[in-house]
Amino acid sequence: DTSALTVRKVGGRLGAVISGVRLGGDLSPETVAQIRAALLANKVVFFRGQDHLDEDSHEAFGKLLGTPVAHPTVPSADGRYSLGIDSDHGARANQWHTDVTFVPAYPAFSVLRAVVIPPYGGNTLWANTATAYEGLPEPLRVLADSLRAVHSNDYDYAALRPQAVPEALKQYKEVFTSTKFLTEHPVVRVHPETGERTLLLGNFVQRIAGLTGRDSRTLLDLFQSHIERPENTVRWQWQVGDVAIWDNRATQHYGVDDSDAHERKLRRVTIDGDVPVGVDG
Ligand code: SIN
Repeated sequence: DTSALTVRKVGGRLGAVISGVRLGGDLSPETVAQIRAALLANKVVFFRGQDHLDEDSHEAFGKLLGTPVAHPTVPSADGRYSLGIDSDHGARANQWHTDVTFVPAYPAFSVLRAVVIPPYGGNTLWANTATAYEGLPEPLRVLADSLRAVHSNDYDYAALRPQAVPEALKQYKEVFTSTKFLTEHPVVRVHPETGERTLLLGNFVQRIAGLTGRDSRTLLDLFQSHIERPENTVRWQWQVGDVAIWDNRATQHYGVDDSDAHERKLRRVTIDGDVPVGVDG
């Protein structure tokens, strides 16, 4: 029964809260279709009060959106697909990124569940990469359409995480780059379901293909500044039992590292995606 499901926008450019649904592997196809439609339209959707979910039902729900995929380098416990995002590994997701863009067919969706939330801080922000593209002045859109970028999981971890404990950082880098990936994608991706043009950039971008370091950095900063504009983002203050699902083909996100030594634990199930297609097909 989908009659109780409501969708309420919480941001002008992206983000909506869905109420009246108990997530799990047993949802009707109609309910899944409604959630999917709200997700494609709003880019990130939030659910409160899903405390009943555990590893199994989280994954079972993920399967209703597509095929769950394990992280390419970070092992998940007990053969599960889900990835633990814990405050104690010393390397937090506090840079703007799109998940796993360093592989050719990076995930389409991520389903993130809050297990332990600190008493303050630890919010997550999402940015809409379709409106960021649309908002570019015409000459910059034309330029972006013509570019490709190299994405890699092998980047300067220490520079981005100055507060991380060196030992934890070393461990994380070893696990995260145990296999090194280098993948070229178009800078503008045509969304396979909505047809929108989106900027495909984020923290895993190493450089714009064919440009020198300085030119590449200047252009990346320019495009990224349009993505990160506050008006182009939504910020979520987590409660235990919340679930966020985002369209990883149309967003970037940023986990704010401002809860000091307090514990924060989330679990993420990511859903398989396809190889991005640029504006020229
Ligand atoms: C993620 O990057 O998937 C997690 C974001 C967060 O920790 O808030």
